[in-house]
Order: sequence, then C-alpha cells, then structure tokens
Amino acid sequence: MKKIKKICCIGAGYVGGPTMAVIAKNCPEIDVTVVDINQKRIDLWNHNNLDLLPVYEPGLREIVKETRGGNLFFTTEVDKAIDEAEMIFISVNTPTKTYGKGKGQAADLKFIELCARNIAKVAKTDKIVVEKSTLPVRTAEAVKSILDNTGKGVKFEILSNPEFLAEGTAVDDLLNADRVLIGGDETKSGQEAKDTLSWIYEHWLPKERILQTNVWSSELSKLVANAFLAQRVSSINSISALCEKTDANVAEVSKAIGFDSRIGSKFLNSSVGFGGSCFQKDILNLVYIAKSYGLNEVANYWEQVIIMNDYQKRRFADNIISTLYNTVSDKKICFYGWAFKKDTNDTRESAAIYVADALLEEKAQIVVYDPKVSEETIYADLDYLGTRSPEENRKLLKVINDPMEACNDAHAIAIMTEWDEFKNYDWIAIFELMLKPAFVFDGRRILTKEKMNAIGFKYYKIGQS
Ligand SMILES: NC(=O)c1ccc[n+]([C@@H]2O[C@H](COP(=O)([O-])OP(=O)(O)OC[C@H]3O[C@@H](n4cnc5c(N)ncnc54)[C@H](O)[C@@H]3O)[C@@H](O)[C@H]2O)c1
Repeated sequence: MKKIKKICCIGAGYVGGPTMAVIAKNCPEIDVTVVDINQKRIDLWNHNNLDLLPVYEPGLREIVKETRGGNLFFTTEVDKAIDEAEMIFISVNTPTKTYGKGKGQAADLKFIELCARNIAKVAKTDKIVVEKSTLPVRTAEAVKSILDNTGKGVKFEILSNPEFLAEGTAVDDLLNADRVLIGGDETKSGQEAKDTLSWIYEHWLPKERILQTNVWSSELSKLVANAFLAQRVSSINSISALCEKTDANVAEVSKAIGFDSRIGSKFLNSSVGFGGSCFQKDILNLVYIAKSYGLNEVANYWEQVIIMNDYQKRRFADNIISTLYNTVSDKKICFYGWAFKKDTNDTRESAAIYVADALLEEKAQIVVYDPKVSEETIYADLDYLGTRSPEENRKLLKVINDPMEACNDAHAIAIMTEWDEFKNYDWIAIFELMLKPAFVFDGRRILTKEKMNAIGFKYYKIGQS
C-alpha cells in the first residue's frame, strides 16, 4: 500500500471544505489543497476573519484556524493542484438536471465530467481519483473512460467514497463517522488504491468502520442511505397529519414506536418537511435510475417520499392561511429561521422557501429573521423559483437582523428552523409586541403548547391537534 503526501480536492463546498479540513487535521504529514473555480468562495476560505468562512459548521473554524497555511490550502489554481497531487477527490455539486433528458430527476453530471476532463488534460503522473460527490450508480465507468483515453499513458484508479456527513454536525460526523465506504475495482491495483484511501481514514477511525465494496455498491449505497433517511421523515410526517385529526400526539407516537429496537428512535421527528441539497435530489436520481431500467414500481415507491414531503410543506402553508381567517393578504407574518436545519447557513431546498412562496402568492407580507443566513441568500432562493419578479419579492418580503423587531406588529410567527435560540426567547415580550390574536405556527415542534397557550398565544404545533 502506497502512502501519499499530497491530496487535491476539487470543490470547496459544504463537503469539500469540512472533509478536507478534517483530513488535514488528522494527517499532518499530508498536504491538502482544496481548489474551486469560484474565486469568492476561495477568498472567504482564506479570509482572516474566520466568522466569514463560506460554510458555517460548529467546530469548523477551530480546525481551519489550526491547519490553514500549515498543511491545508485553498486556491483557484486548479491545474497546479491536480498536477502535484497523488490523490484527487472530486467534491463538486451534482444538482438535479434542469434541462433536456431526465430534466427534474436525473443528476446533472456536467461538473463531474469537466473535472474528469481537466484531470485527464493536466495529469502527467499516475493518480487515484476519488468520487466524493454523490453520483448515480455506474458513473465511475464514465469517469474512467474519459481518464483512460488521454493517450498519455498515465494510470488512474477510480474509487467511490461517498460522504455521509450531515450539515449542522459535519465536523462531528467526520471525526466520529459511523462508517466510511470505499468502493473500487477488485483488481490488484484497485485493492491497493482502496487500501491507500483506507490508510488515510485509519489516522483517526478504527479499521472496522471502514468498509470496502465494489464501485457500484458504493455509489448506489449513498443514494439508498439518503432515500431511507428521507423515507423515515416522510413516514412520520404522514402520521403527523393523522395525529392532528385524531387527537393523537405525534411526539408520543414517535417515542412509542422508536422504543422498538427494530425501528429505532432516530429520524422520527415530525416537521414542516425535510430540506437540504441532498435528500430530494438523491431520491429523484434513484427514481430516474429505476425508471431507466424499466423498474416503474420501484420508481413510484420512492417518488412517494418526495410527494409526501411536498404535501407537508403545502399543508403547513395552507394551515396558516385558513387559521388566519382564510386570508393573509397584507398580513405580517414573521419567519423565525430560513436555513433548512439548525447549525448551518445552507438553505438549499429549505421548507421555508416553499412556505414563503405559497404565502407570498396570497400577498402576505413576510419578515424573515435567521441567525446565520444572509439577506442576499434569502432573496436568491426566492428569485430562483421565478414565481414573481425580484422587485416584487423584495417588496413583499423583508429580512431583519433582530428577532424582536421582526415580530413587531406581526399577525403570526412561523417557526421554520429549529435554532436553539428560538426556545430561549422571551415569549411574553414577543406576545406583547404582536397583534392580537397572536398566532404561532411551530413547524419544528420546539415550543411547549401549554406554556404558549398560558401566555395567550394561539399556538399550532405540527402533529398535535
Ligand atoms: N451538502 C451535504 O450535506 C452533502 C453530504 C453528502 C454528500 N454531498 C454531495 O457532495 C457533493 C458536493 O456537495 P456540496 O454540498 O459540497 O456542494 P457545493 O455546491 O457546496 O460545492 C461544490 C463546489 O464545487 C465547485 N465546482 C464545481 N465545478 C467545479 C470545477 N469544474 N472545478 C472546481 N470547482 C468546481 C463549485 O464552485 C462549488 O463551490 C454533491 O454531490 C452532494 O450531493 C453533499
């Protein structure tokens, strides 16, 4: 097994940044260079003020502070980093296609292909290429074909090493990973490459947690893991609707079923719906792959997870409208939270975007407060939907940096993200500031119904009648 000294990671995003920071911290003898074509992102990774790192994750700034400039580097000099590295991680985005065949379902692999072509163009020495991005099963075949046809006699080993971190707990997930999955060819050189990558992770993880498989099992396992996790959320969310009609309480149902060791207690929290860049995209991709093999029943089964999630977001918005006497026109609705979950500044596919869009269609006046998400991001999320003009979005929705000011004179508050600070607010003072009757719609189930009712709020909690 070959020990390596230089790693390059293409893509300095939510996966590339934290993953490479953790490798750099645990492997001081390896130089880790993270490259990106986005100059602004790289500048922020290199910024003196660590509060401005482009990815917010608890514990990340400390690791970056310790390693940056020592053995962790961020740069836009992509070709140089590829040329010098013995192992190259591809950690670029793989969004759902928005055009052509597979539009709306298949993964857009143009960024991956560009990386492969760039590696093929630049590489002068043998490399191990690691797919860290989430990819459809059999993508490694395409990457290999591009790399093997450079005509320069350079040898490439392609590994699949999907990332299982969750945003908000990325650093902890990386430091204490349940498992690391490494897929590669079952040839002698394939085995050697898998062992080299395993050796990197063995710097801080027990060997038993590092699983080796063939490439296709590894690629598919990542999609399946996300599909199973999202399925649990949609399953409990479907039950939350039933609880609201039957006087059952979804928290009690979750607890009762979660105690069954065959079911387990994790991922059974009902909410306004899952978001994030991965769950929806990866399930749609799974659906597309199943359909492309003619497995329509399999495709329909998994698609239902997305349909249920859309229903939950729509149901939450509809409930706000019907509770506010069937009209939210010109009513001020304060959103606490915009990120798709707490402890991240990532907003991709956040439920807040879709609930806001539905309420803005009814001419509501929305005011958003989120402790980590910028005004620029919030408007970009809404503009991206294209439901109305950017000017109209800015007219109807305002972003305010102070939670008390945000709820002043509001008809209702919608809790969209489970940020811890929301639990500790002075809810009596908030009640005083709001118009009466003062409504709170708790899409994250973080507050106590009895306490909120005692203050005087009309309080709605998902999954409780
Ligand atoms: N975000 C998560 O929680 C998570 C978890 C596990 C897996 N994944 C997967 O990891 C991959 C990356 O996700 P992310 O959230 O880090 O995406 P991201 O959008 O945050 O980052 C991707 C980065 O790649 C850069 N990039 C694109 N093409 C490039 C090129 N040719 N050369 C150099 N840089 C290029 C982009 O500028 C961007 O900064 C995706 O496939 C995703 O599905 C994400």
